[in-house]
Amino acid sequence: MTTVTITIDGREVKARAGQTILEAAQAAGIDIPVLCHHPAVQPIGACRMCLVEIEKQRALQPACTFPVSEGLVIQTESPKVVEARKFVLNLLFSERNHFCMFCQMSGNCELQDLAYRYQLDHWAYQRAYPNLPVDSSRQYFVMDHNRCILCRRCIRACADLVGNHTLGLRRRGVDTMLVADMDVPFGESSCISCGTCLQVCPTGALMDRTSAYGGVKEEVERVKTTCQFCSVGCGAELVTRDNHVIRIEGDWDAEVNHGLLCVRGRFEPLYERRERITTPLIRQNGKLVEASWDDALQAVAQRIKAAGNTLGVLVSPRVTNEAAKLCAKVFGTAARVGSMSPVPEHLKREEGKLTDLDEADLFVVVGADLGKDHQVAGFAVKRGVNNKGARLVLVGEGENEFSPLAMAEFKPAEIEQAIVLAQGASSPVVVYGAKAGSELVLLREKLAGKARFVGLTPGVNSRGLQAAGLDKPANLSGVKVLYVLLSDDTADANLTDAAQGADFVVVQTGFETPLMDKADVVLPAAIWSERAGTITNTEGRKLAVTAALPPIGEARPDDQILKELAARLGM
Ligand code: SF4
Ligand code: SF4
Ligand code: SF4
Ligand code: FES
Repeated sequence: MTTVTITIDGREVKARAGQTILEAAQAAGIDIPVLCHHPAVQPIGACRMCLVEIEKQRALQPACTFPVSEGLVIQTESPKVVEARKFVLNLLFSERNHFCMFCQMSGNCELQDLAYRYQLDHWAYQRAYPNLPVDSSRQYFVMDHNRCILCRRCIRACADLVGNHTLGLRRRGVDTMLVADMDVPFGESSCISCGTCLQVCPTGALMDRTSAYGGVKEEVERVKTTCQFCSVGCGAELVTRDNHVIRIEGDWDAEVNHGLLCVRGRFEPLYERRERITTPLIRQNGKLVEASWDDALQAVAQRIKAAGNTLGVLVSPRVTNEAAKLCAKVFGTAARVGSMSPVPEHLKREEGKLTDLDEADLFVVVGADLGKDHQVAGFAVKRGVNNKGARLVLVGEGENEFSPLAMAEFKPAEIEQAIVLAQGASSPVVVYGAKAGSELVLLREKLAGKARFVGLTPGVNSRGLQAAGLDKPANLSGVKVLYVLLSDDTADANLTDAAQGADFVVVQTGFETPLMDKADVVLPAAIWSERAGTITNTEGRKLAVTAALPPIGEARPDDQILKELAARLGM
């Protein structure tokens, strides 16, 4: 690594050749303000907020794009620099309506922060205040053009990071507007509501509906955790206030997703409408009535002890590794103990890394719809196809949201044609999901040593259940006592049917579920935002889950409930 020595504000700083002045300054703890720049996307030097004075340069230069070189002498807050920044800010404040008291982002806005920093205490130029539209056609967040400073962070995030290319600019000069596709309402555009644009927007132009007015920076807490809504396991930050998650953001430092989230991880959990279970419940005279933890656990322990080998246990693949391990310890891993949805045989083996997707020149996606599931893995495919010229081949039955991106689509019976295409590529990657069938066997055989294979498991922590020996179907015939560790999962009709034959049903659940109609005891479980531990993602990576909130009411985390039950079983 070649290093150069530069001087910033009189301080000698070592910088890496190839770094920009901004990067070198940030690494040295020197703050240069930015607006259009965001570290996750390529710099474009558009807003001129980061201007600095460089010795021997005739004009001020943008630090976000100017590369370091030996001997540069830089001033980051000289009178000339400050004057230029104030000018930029004054122009921005005169162009559109940044009357902050009416902005839902007031207190969370990078533009506003800079106005305070540079002491803008009056309007330097007459305000035009054009009456621009607010586009609220999208379900989860709105676009207020009045607050937009045309920094283009969102455009680059959508294109470079998500590979979706929904956003762009239309018209020129003062008429310039941010648009979706060919200037259609956002809700009718190709937007997939991943919210990446929202996360990078420096102002209140893009605002999510749940956290608007929810609390400014100083009032909220931020907890890093792992998204628990599919087996990709994206790093997420939960923004909470007063025991509520008001926003979910992608964790820029997370190796799995580098800040990206999909709609399922970012927005859908905030719109959960199922009722929570807040106390243990015991069935009495046909009705579930509130009970103490002691009575509920005692009743469960008694029936389990008496059940012998007529005890059956079903575990959701949403539980943490720690809960899965305890479950295996308490109940064993015999035939009557298993997963609510075991992974198919072809996905049992951990294979390939999600980062392999970034190196593909041809993707063969088999038995998976990356527009519906494992979407952040799908973003890598989109980036490959839309930004790097990679080709996409889909193999499977039925409709696939990635069809418009595909160069070819084959039925499983036509797999030979996909194999020929992959053999002709230099770095093919096969991505396979739960619906892949015997065609995968042929792909493995014919592309051995040529292609990399990346499997996407269903469920969230199926790998964790696998490690605990629980990822298998349970044989429930003859089961008299059934323990369903549902956690915060949903129960489908099969599960309700499975409960029919049992005399005594225990449901450990965070939410109300139709399965409770069959339950004799209900144990209230903490949900994804209230539990701590680890999960193992589809690649086999162990990821930390951190509780951002205390469990609601008397709910307890799954592993704690199992420990207490174990104690009552004399373990
Ligand atoms: S939500 Fe995602 S897909 Fe939609 S415009 Fe923003 S970055 Fe693009
Ligand atoms: S919507 Fe936000 S991120 Fe996009 S150009 Fe406007 S201010 Fe910048
Ligand atoms: S891809 Fe999966 S882990 Fe990542 S944000 Fe979406 S649901 Fe969560
Ligand atoms: S932050 Fe450098 S020009 Fe905008």
